[in-house]
Amino acid sequence: MTGNYDRTISAADHGLGPETVWEIQLPAIRFGRNAVEELDFQLAELGVDDGASGLIITDEPMVQTGHVDRVTDHLEDAGFDVTVWDGAEPEPSIETVDSCLEFVRENEGAEGYDFYLGMGGGSSLDVAKGTRAVMANGGEVLDYVAEPTGAGETLTESGDPLVLVPTTAGTGSEISPVAIYAVEEKEIKEGISSNHVRADAAVLDPTLTTTMPASVTAATGMDALAHALEGYTTHDHDSFLRPEDPAQRPVYAGQTDVTEMFGRRAIELVANNIRTAVHNGEDVEARAAMLKASLFGAICGLTAGVSLSHAMAYPVGNQYHTSHGETIAVLTPASTLGYNVASDPERFAEIATLLGADVEGMSTREAADEARREYVRLQQDLNVLPSGLAELAGISADEIDWLATQTVETQQRLLRCNPRPVTEEDALQVFHDALHNWE
Ligand SMILES: [Fe+2]
Repeated sequence: MTGNYDRTISAADHGLGPETVWEIQLPAIRFGRNAVEELDFQLAELGVDDGASGLIITDEPMVQTGHVDRVTDHLEDAGFDVTVWDGAEPEPSIETVDSCLEFVRENEGAEGYDFYLGMGGGSSLDVAKGTRAVMANGGEVLDYVAEPTGAGETLTESGDPLVLVPTTAGTGSEISPVAIYAVEEKEIKEGISSNHVRADAAVLDPTLTTTMPASVTAATGMDALAHALEGYTTHDHDSFLRPEDPAQRPVYAGQTDVTEMFGRRAIELVANNIRTAVHNGEDVEARAAMLKASLFGAICGLTAGVSLSHAMAYPVGNQYHTSHGETIAVLTPASTLGYNVASDPERFAEIATLLGADVEGMSTREAADEARREYVRLQQDLNVLPSGLAELAGISADEIDWLATQTVETQQRLLRCNPRPVTEEDALQVFHDALHNWE
């Protein structure tokens, strides 16, 4: 994130005018049942020739599902020389990427493989993104992590083709310009954020997601919904300042007509399909709808920007090692659908309707508040999500001061996207409110 970038133009003494331009960058996207059977074609489209060497970056449980063999067999039949590295793990650390890099350098030297294919949940995809980026730009992962944890160097190359195949529906990592890693000695997570980290292609195949357990389906689905809700309620792109150099435009750049359309549709898709996907995981139609919701939610939130619940989730995840999706799910009612409602009641009233609430006869403000109640009803229906921070990780009211301080001190990159200013006292109140969403 750039240092000289400010949202308000009201009183600042600078030569920048309001933003007048928006851009959208996405990988090539291939979506649908058995889309993985077109991976050979997708690689050829990216200029990868027959006989090229490729590395599949994944984790052991994914290998056990048989999905990795399916992809490996397909690519070998098409004439590619494929190797599998299955050392990715949930919430991967910088060391995880280092060990993948070591594997690549031992096998293929500094040149690396001709292409990389990340397959799995957001964790495996993030390891693949980091590995490809470091192979292309040299050095090590920490060189590209923001200061003071890393050296904060800028990536200048994208490198050899990277294709991502998600097997969960929610993180949006397959299209996002961000890769997140735990920094173990500091107990924090840091990201590499650059358009050069983004994959060249994303291949989304719902037949790979039917083996996902109910709890993961619920948690990742709620993350997808959060990306849509936050992207749909963040600032408009033209309320930011236009940077002097387009390369300095932040990756989270505010709402446009494009992000709005995708956000609206993603909210509806989750509201209408997540119950079936959680309770009847073999239903490929519901799985396809959730995978589409994940993609659309990411196009909305991971382009326009995510805000308060994500800002609050990182300190919680660092401290209590909770899953990202579950953390987001317990924080959303109090933050996005609670504290933020005052920023634009009309928009939140529309969200209530998109979530399926009946708001007939209600005032705009009552309808806006109904969004939160409808969201909590949805969570309760899923029956696998914790009821609040207390159930998530045993967090009590005396532990939340520290979380509020951390949110305000370390998450300005995301708080900048929040539609309502957040002080430490505000964050404390929201954390308090998130201890119990229901009894
Ligand atoms: Fe997220």
